Amino acid sequence: MPQAMSVTASGVGMNYLAVCEGAAVRSKDAARTAEALRDIMAGGRTEFRMEYPCSSPQGPRWFQLRVTRPDQTQTRRIVVAHEDITEVKRTQEELARLSGRLMHLQDEERRTIARELHDTTAQNLLAITLNATRLREALHDAGEPICGALAETLELAEQSLQEVRTLAYLLHPPLLDDVGLVAALSWLARGFSERSGIQVDISIDDGGEPLSRPAATALFRVAQEALSNVHRHSGSRRAWLSLYRTDDTVQLDIVDRGTGLRPPARASGEDAQRIGVGISGMRLRLEQLGGQLDIRSGPSGTRVSASVPIKPRDPDKNSLNEPSSEAASDMSR
Ligand SMILES: Nc1ncnc2c1ncn2[C@@H]1O[C@H](COP(=O)(O)OP(=O)(O)O)[C@@H](O)[C@H]1O
Ligand SMILES: [Mg+2]
Repeated sequence: MPQAMSVTASGVGMNYLAVCEGAAVRSKDAARTAEALRDIMAGGRTEFRMEYPCSSPQGPRWFQLRVTRPDQTQTRRIVVAHEDITEVKRTQEELARLSGRLMHLQDEERRTIARELHDTTAQNLLAITLNATRLREALHDAGEPICGALAETLELAEQSLQEVRTLAYLLHPPLLDDVGLVAALSWLARGFSERSGIQVDISIDDGGEPLSRPAATALFRVAQEALSNVHRHSGSRRAWLSLYRTDDTVQLDIVDRGTGLRPPARASGEDAQRIGVGISGMRLRLEQLGGQLDIRSGPSGTRVSASVPIKPRDPDKNSLNEPSSEAASDMSR
């Protein structure tokens, strides 16, 4: 029984519902249990499950309370079972910590690769294009094979430079660090539209305060993954991206008018292979920050909503991030 619910004289012969009702003023868990018991007794539902913490001399422990009403044909009874799930909880926490750490390392690695691509490969390609341009100018009357080869070299070098820059930006948009989420999302949506041909309408309510780097990164990655899903899975030719804040959260919505998600695949056998890491990755990222992911989907489209908690609004601050105009001009590269 949840700690706050226990009474000294509980035991055989006690009325469990009465004990819960007695403790309901002090304990939300007790109140929920009492309500569920009454509901199950009245036939409103057949099962109730709740996890609750409990302190013990060995440290904090977790229990699962399960109330079921077995088939009523022979005896009318309700089974209340408490199960120690501390080990399961510890494993879940450990897994969440490990996943968070892996995600952080992945972000760091992407940042390093992006920097390397940007600072070395892109610089080398730029030098090649400059050299090729000079050679073409110097050899402009060298005849077709040479001029043709130089023109082709220049074109390939320019194309590669563009690709490397795009790749570096996608791996880790420097914008996120410099100009913040709002500019980075606009850049993402514009690039996505150009590459996919899907029109993205953006609505950004610029009424918040600077977001922490982890929060901005998480929301950016969610937008990136959700837009990629619109392109790969939805069939929609249009998408809507909005960023706004409520009193204590920043909210990002990506909406499409596509086919919607198929009914949830069962997490076993062949189907388990088909469950992507995109949605679970988004969820994990947000949960690490105390936020959450909500997906609503039907035959007329999908809405992916991500939220991260923020401190209550400070009336003096008036933007989700504070772009430096210098860094903003970096976007046009
Ligand atoms: N916007 C969407 N419209 C339709 N189906 C979607 C959408 N987003 C996700 N899905 C479905 O959900 C599955 C899981 O998505 P995700 O976890 O991102 O994995 P992946 O994109 O790698 O398949 C996709 O394979 C797809 O079937
Ligand atoms: Mg995906």
